[in-house]
Amino acid sequence: MKIAVVGTGYVGLVTGTCFAETGNQVTCVDIDERKVEKLRKGKLTIYEPGLDVIFDRNTKEGRLKFTTNLAEGIKDAQVIFLALPTPPGEDGSADLKYILGVANDLGPLLENYAVIIDKSTVPVGTAEKVRERVAKNAKVEFDVVSNPEFLREGVAVEDFMKPDRVVIGTTSEKAKKVMEKLYAPLVRQGNPIIFMDERSAEMTKYAANAFLAMKITFMNEIANLCEKAGANVDDIRRGIGTDSRIGKRFLFAGIGYGGSCFPKDVQALEKTANEFDYDFKILKSVMKVNEKQKTKMMPHVKAYFDGDLKGKTIALWGLAFKPHTDDIREAPALYNIKELRKAGAKVVVYDPEAMENVRGVVGKKVKYAKSPYEAIEGADALMIMTEWPEFRTPDFDKMEAALKNKVIFDGRNLYELKDMRDLGYTYFSVGRDT
Ligand code: UGA
Repeated sequence: MKIAVVGTGYVGLVTGTCFAETGNQVTCVDIDERKVEKLRKGKLTIYEPGLDVIFDRNTKEGRLKFTTNLAEGIKDAQVIFLALPTPPGEDGSADLKYILGVANDLGPLLENYAVIIDKSTVPVGTAEKVRERVAKNAKVEFDVVSNPEFLREGVAVEDFMKPDRVVIGTTSEKAKKVMEKLYAPLVRQGNPIIFMDERSAEMTKYAANAFLAMKITFMNEIANLCEKAGANVDDIRRGIGTDSRIGKRFLFAGIGYGGSCFPKDVQALEKTANEFDYDFKILKSVMKVNEKQKTKMMPHVKAYFDGDLKGKTIALWGLAFKPHTDDIREAPALYNIKELRKAGAKVVVYDPEAMENVRGVVGKKVKYAKSPYEAIEGADALMIMTEWPEFRTPDFDKMEAALKNKVIFDGRNLYELKDMRDLGYTYFSVGRDT
């Protein structure tokens, strides 16, 4: 099939590369000339494990191309993915200016029947808006389909190639056939393609992300209660996760969810509810609890130093919002850096992938260490913000020699309580005894 992908951000680049890998001829379009130039030279613009290998293969074999020219990119394409940003507007609702802008441009450029696919996370009713915009100037038949993406950063290639399910919103039989053919190589193991109308597909994406954010937030609240009631959230997780109605995944308590999706989508769904005059109370609580959870270690840090952090050096391990990504959007680490600095502490940070991104936002306000051990050299305490695997089994002898005080504030529950007790640490974690 000939495919165009408009927008080479995270979702667009993964979508384009993965569909090239299944044998399609893919052209990715982006207005950012520098980005397109880099991609043309064979250099990836995002960090995503495993993507580089298939990106290399498909660019070399000529199945994956890049252009800044929309007309050239969509020429003869049977399907056109729109993978454009939908940043939150001032009021928290998703801003559709990029998607609707491209929809306006597409109409006069279409030469043959094409399926236009909303891949971005867009509010209910967007497919209809896109259809109206394209229809204004279109001379040929076309369909607009909602096909939300459920991939996670860090495991995006696997999620894309082996999806739990593919959700497709369309009532057009012609579009359905095209979509079935496109996704056939990815659902060979019997994972379903679920067809529904456009509005339901759009809502499904928000419901999935909001539900997962709620699941995590529920566990964070259980963890907060465990701390007061003398229970252990790890045991609760095991105790309830084995119930197949609840499920084992996304039950890890910590210092809150971040990233480019959950915070934005929970907010946007609440906004949609508002527009339809529905008071979605759970979502409001989820947002409120998560905001507070991000800096939940700060009171412990302050109390440990008798309320005075002036002149203290605090080392942070982990800056990305989760492991295996360099993404720092809504990352708890950023909120903690701000709080620590406000309290007068000096901050030294280390992250295997996200240092450059943090430098772009925080600049010289913190020190950047080349290794986890350099970060804690002479530091008064260590805070753990992201559960990178390399932090899980550190060299505790080296740590002891480097840290001024044997104290760790662990926002991701990396270590066993007993081990930390045996090693003589004052160890704060989430939802467990100190
Ligand atoms: C999320 C969804 O999981 C994807 O299905 C969806 O496609 C994507 O958003 C999107 O809308 O594009 P992502 O934001 O990449 O994916 O990251 P997740 O792995 O879902 O993690 C989100 C946040 O939840 C992270 O901050 C993570 O640390 C936190 N989390 C996750 C927990 O605190 N506890 C858990 O048990 C799991």
